Amino acid sequence: MAYIIDGKKISNEIKDELKEKVIAFKENGKEITLAVVQVGNDPASSVYVGNKKKACEYIGINSLSFELPKETTEVELINLVKELNQRNDVNGILVQLPLPKHINEDIIIQTISPEKDVDGFHPMSVGALSIGHKGFVSCTPSGVIELLKRSNIQIEGKECVIVGRSNIVGKPMAFLLLRENGTVTICHSKTTNLKEVTKRADILVVAIGKPKFITKEYIKEGAIVIDVGIHRDENNKLCGDVDYNDVVDHVSAITPVPGGVGPMTIAMLMNNCVVSAT
Ligand code: GUN
Repeated sequence: MAYIIDGKKISNEIKDELKEKVIAFKENGKEITLAVVQVGNDPASSVYVGNKKKACEYIGINSLSFELPKETTEVELINLVKELNQRNDVNGILVQLPLPKHINEDIIIQTISPEKDVDGFHPMSVGALSIGHKGFVSCTPSGVIELLKRSNIQIEGKECVIVGRSNIVGKPMAFLLLRENGTVTICHSKTTNLKEVTKRADILVVAIGKPKFITKEYIKEGAIVIDVGIHRDENNKLCGDVDYNDVVDHVSAITPVPGGVGPMTIAMLMNNCVVSAT
């Protein structure tokens, strides 16, 4: 029987630890504030932003909300970010993605001061990670590392295979697993013989963006599987990139969807907010 890695429980532990830290901050007269910027009212983004604000409230972090109309221009958004960069009472800045098509996301991300880049998306943050320097790390991959560590799963010396090469998950995931002394392979949609590569994995991280794509034919028996995907299946039920029911008796540990990686992203964002004020 596979060990089910409980992301909800682990994320709650992290949030409780952070809550204690924030109490200590406040006793020293220090406040932490996250500025959350949303442009337009994409329903999925509204849910994510709402969950982030709720987590802030739970931990004792102030959240400043900027809900801008979808017609907001790139220049207006740049000016807001610049203003938030300057404000001493703002520790972290989060601009929810995706942005409306007329706004260049790269330009906005590059406008956020790296000292306040709690998403870890700024090229300076990504570059720092790639050469082992200090800096904010993207929350989903750092959440995966935390899930593994807190489940006592050793990374050092293991064959770690990542399916997906996005800037937000796949690439930073590779750097983080390398930092933990894993042997890392990234595969993607153009990889030939994908099954052969994924079958090498002791730890398989799947962030491919295709519902139930990974079945047991892709996985070595007894491997550890981390599923970063989240989708609705044909019955409108949440599912991941991994066909959970197909693989669960074949693996030694797995993250469920929901309740695996998802809750960790927000916990790590909260961690970055605390770090931003330190
Ligand atoms: N949209 C989906 N996930 C994220 C995230 O982690 N950060 C931001 N800023 N936007 C997102």
